[in-house]
Amino acid sequence: MIVTSQIDELRKHRWADPSLTWGFVPTMGYLHAGHLSLVQLSLVGNDKTAVSIYVNPTQFAPTEDLSSYPRNLAGDLALLEAAGVDLVFTPSDTIMYPPGFQTTVNLSNVTQPLEGRSRPTHFAGVATVVAKLFNIVQPTRAYFGQKDAQQTVVLRQLVRDLNFNVAMIIGPTSREPDSLAMSSRNARLSKADRLAAPILYQALSAAKNAYASGERSGVALRGLMWEMITAVPQAKIDYVSAADPKTLEELEIVEDGVLLSTAVFFGKTRLIDNILIEATENTEEKEGNF
Ligand code: PAF
Repeated sequence: MIVTSQIDELRKHRWADPSLTWGFVPTMGYLHAGHLSLVQLSLVGNDKTAVSIYVNPTQFAPTEDLSSYPRNLAGDLALLEAAGVDLVFTPSDTIMYPPGFQTTVNLSNVTQPLEGRSRPTHFAGVATVVAKLFNIVQPTRAYFGQKDAQQTVVLRQLVRDLNFNVAMIIGPTSREPDSLAMSSRNARLSKADRLAAPILYQALSAAKNAYASGERSGVALRGLMWEMITAVPQAKIDYVSAADPKTLEELEIVEDGVLLSTAVFFGKTRLIDNILIEATENTEEKEGNF
């Protein structure tokens, strides 16, 4: 497995044989089974697989958890080597944002609601770094997790708008046995908060079941999730949402699919989760088999 922090070195390997397809899994490290499931999709779907490990400072607000974001490069590299990854890109801040750097990629509508409301600069940081990584790696396919539902909408839009020649593949959310969505941030939960955290998926599932039983009022679906989550004393809701899966606008009446999502604080740790229900002709949850 090649490990490099250098763009030239990466490109040398990427283009050694231009006939090969490359899958790419961008990450911020501290890898868990969710990342590895995306790596598996890439290994199966491509001749070669590259993974980036880079904690991107521009997607954290000054008040957020950049300095305490969990890191374990040695452990990550061991997991990726065992998985059979071909190349890992581990750039420094100076390589990604050299002195004089002055370009930001901003998307308008889809970055405003949900995560964008409490994290107004977040998606500009994500879009900028992913645009750079796509230009550096030039993958055939790129892999992202459904857990970051709004990120997948934003990045699909980025690829369309800027004509990136990359196929976007969205993998299902990986979950702990008690249904909590896997996240590097789970490691920061206290014991009591960790026990309470499955309420996110329980509330989303209750809304999904209400939808399956015929509930079509966005207000009612949001209200159901709100009630269940607020019944847990340590859970502080940032938002509950029943939104259009493409525009991310809140729905009054659900007609043609819905993205049910929520963000909840446990202490300082903010967890997100979602269930995507496809349009009426195919109401299967796009979540895998959990
Ligand atoms: O989802 C993440 O881990 C990050 O937002 C990403 C896509 C690697 C960009 O830094």
